[in-house]
Amino acid sequence: MATGATVGAWALVLSLWGAAAGSRNLTAQIGKPLVLNCKGAPKKPPQQLEWKLNTGRTEAWKVLSPQGGPWDSVARVLPNGSLLLPAIGIQDEGTFRCRAMSQNGKETKSSYQVRVYQIPGKPEIVDPASKLTAGVPNKVGTCVSEGGYPAGTLSWHLDGKPLIPDGKGVSVKEETRRHPETGLFTLRSELMVTPALGGAPHPTFSCSFSPGLPRRRALHTAPIQLSVWGKQRWGGPLARPVPLEEVQLVVKPESGAVALGGTVTLTCEAPTQPPPQIHWIKDGTPLPLPPSAVLLLSEVGPQDEGTYSCVATHRSHGSQESQAVSISIIETVEEGSTAGSVGGPGLGTLALALGILGGLGIVALLIGIIMWRRWRHQGEKRKAPENQDEEEEERAELNQSEEPEAAESNAGGP
Ligand SMILES: *[C@@H]1O[C@H](CO)[C@@H](O)[C@H](O)[C@H]1NC(C)=O
Ligand SMILES: *[C@@H]1O[C@H](CO)[C@@H](O)[C@H](O)[C@H]1NC(C)=O
Repeated sequence: MATGATVGAWALVLSLWGAAAGSRNLTAQIGKPLVLNCKGAPKKPPQQLEWKLNTGRTEAWKVLSPQGGPWDSVARVLPNGSLLLPAIGIQDEGTFRCRAMSQNGKETKSSYQVRVYQIPGKPEIVDPASKLTAGVPNKVGTCVSEGGYPAGTLSWHLDGKPLIPDGKGVSVKEETRRHPETGLFTLRSELMVTPALGGAPHPTFSCSFSPGLPRRRALHTAPIQLSVWGKQRWGGPLARPVPLEEVQLVVKPESGAVALGGTVTLTCEAPTQPPPQIHWIKDGTPLPLPPSAVLLLSEVGPQDEGTYSCVATHRSHGSQESQAVSISIIETVEEGSTAGSVGGPGLGTLALALGILGGLGIVALLIGIIMWRRWRHQGEKRKAPENQDEEEEERAELNQSEEPEAAESNAGGP
């Protein structure tokens, strides 16, 4: 009993192994011959073997006789027991099985899963864009793969990295067509991208064909390099796009206004490779500094105010100047108090002038009073004999306020 069970288990294991070992996946190129061996069959007739197949040409299992027949042009059994398909086609995809009896009466089965393929022509990017505009959707081009089987897929790459369509910045319109006679596929993939403003100025696009069968190599288009241009800077009919490859001057702080004693950083950005030499210009005059992409103005003073630009010089591209930026010094609260003290001497001068004027005025007034008093005194003397009565009255009035003077006058009298 136990021995029988063991033998049965081994038989099961062996039969499973046999089935697994006997089944093979094969791929064959369309139009080429394919030979399938019938395992365990004697190399020469007389043989006891049977080939049967279930493919696109058959409705169910079709048994082939070794004697040959109308299927000879499609598949025939060779003298050594193998099956020959002289020129395999798409309709020959399917399952092929052989059952053979060896000379000592042992049965062997073989099974093949056959798939066919055709390598398409090298994919191409047709109607490539001449340039791209940043911030808006652009058609990059259409990738075309012609004459492949099975269909396979097309994919795009940007600077060597896969471009995944997201329906926003990257979108792809795909089309698959099948040739009515050959059954081969033509794939088209139209790529639309929206380059980011300030993104890479020279993106490289390529397209790849990935076969629908494993272990087949992908095919790649020649890459196309495009220039990304900025949005139109000016409106109207004379609008011109601006290349992003323009040399950009970046200022920190952005306003270009800095407090006295503060720091300004000017960075010259030129996207060309290898990096160009950068020189700096202030108010139209080159600054005598070694080439550097960064100009740092620290502890700025009034002498640093002005208009700055940078010039990028490249061996093959020539020179290009950036836009100019102006750097100015702003007055902070501290700065305002300094201004007040600076204004101080001005006000002091004014006060001094007013003081002098006031002093002179007072002196003049005093002199005037003295002069008037003297004049009045003399007049009194002269008038006294003529208009005694009048003078008497006047004196009486004056005596109310100028008693001492009147007394003095009287004393100084005759
Ligand atoms: C054959 O291909 C099928 C899928 O088509 C797979 O499931 C199977 O494992 C493959 N067999 C072998 C022996 O590679
Ligand atoms: C049988 O013959 C064909 C063609 O001559 C050959 O390609 C194939 O390998 C042979 N099969 C075996 C099992 O020897």
